[in-house]
Amino acid sequence: MADQFADYQFGIYFDALSGRVPGLPMDYATLESRAASVLSPSLHSYIAGGAGDEATQRRNVEAFTQWGLVPRMLVGADEREMSVTAWGQTFRSPVFMAPVGVIGLVTEDRHGDIAVARAAAETGVPAMFSTLMQDPLEQVITHAGSTPSFFQLYTPKDRDLAASLVERAEKAGYRGIAVTLDTWVPGWRPRDLATGNFPQLRGNVLENYTGDPVFRRLAGSAADPQTDIRTWAQIFGNPLSWNDLAWLRSLTDLPIILKGISHPDDARRAIDAGADGIYCSNHGGRQANGGLSALEMLPEVVAACDDRVPVLFDSGVRSGSDVVKAIGLGATMVGIGRPYAYGLALGGVAGLVHVLRTMLAEADLLMAVNGYPDFAAVRENIRRTS
Ligand SMILES: Cc1cc2nc3c(=O)[nH]c(=O)nc-3n(C[C@H](O)[C@H](O)[C@H](O)COP(=O)(O)O)c2cc1C
Repeated sequence: MADQFADYQFGIYFDALSGRVPGLPMDYATLESRAASVLSPSLHSYIAGGAGDEATQRRNVEAFTQWGLVPRMLVGADEREMSVTAWGQTFRSPVFMAPVGVIGLVTEDRHGDIAVARAAAETGVPAMFSTLMQDPLEQVITHAGSTPSFFQLYTPKDRDLAASLVERAEKAGYRGIAVTLDTWVPGWRPRDLATGNFPQLRGNVLENYTGDPVFRRLAGSAADPQTDIRTWAQIFGNPLSWNDLAWLRSLTDLPIILKGISHPDDARRAIDAGADGIYCSNHGGRQANGGLSALEMLPEVVAACDDRVPVLFDSGVRSGSDVVKAIGLGATMVGIGRPYAYGLALGGVAGLVHVLRTMLAEADLLMAVNGYPDFAAVRENIRRTS
């Protein structure tokens, strides 16, 4: 039988026979609380916090309890097909690492983007790297081995700078550009506001800008940190409109994935305008509070996409069973945010690899136990609980 993600479980049990028990958490609650104790208070606040009173952030997680999977017996699902194909590429599993802009700061050496790339190389789980990196995008991707990488674009106000970032990503070998639509201005985040905590304004994670030739023309050729930060703050957020999509589309031949779509009408219109992927997400509840969870909107978004393009999903995924439920509701690929940041904080590359393997093993075992040999079976056997 081919290697299955479930094998991670048996490895743990067998290791324990020789006295090696996992030093890393096996459940999300422990992961979250242990990560909180190793991260600096400001970085922890930035990662853990969300918009307003964080009701949407909590709702993202709770929404998964409103769906249940019905086990099917006598199926003999001893091998599960978990690979997915999107934009002509095949991935071993539907899981990917969502862009996390401060991930570069999470490791002690402050090369967290490179650590993410190494974990992608080790696991085959692709990463989508934020524009906000601590190391230049050209260097980071060289650590991802044969695992495809994606670039997430925060579209700057300056069109030449946007074009330069996309061109650099394409040249460096990224396989798709995710344009984040919901964060041209930061949402209202009380945890960070209480301490005036905004990492970028302290000169962090701006490497992709400060090393860019167009940015250098805008900020002046002699890099002065304060001028660079001021320039960055002025050009960061472009409140895009539908009229900008044709221009974005013209920048690259790579797939363009629109991140932050929650309304089915927006999904339909985006595909009509040339989007190659729809990324249903509410930014983990970090941007707008008071909304529905992303999962509640997923079935409508999937229906609107009508199999025309892959549908990516994130926001609130905390376990392998959450991954399977999101797939059951029609997602093509499922993104993980905070959990992998916490794995990286606790155990570096090994900690991050562990979090990915636990998610995948749990998802695989759930499919095995429930008698789902493939995702079609998951989709046939998911039910609303309320
Ligand atoms: C600390 C942090 C930084 C983030 N930075 C970015 C970013 O730079 N670009 C982006 O598109 N999304 C960013 N996101 C949103 C994630 O890509 C993803 O949508 C979200 O984390 C999913 O929710 P979850 O953390 O509940 O899994 C960030 C999320 C966190 C927690």
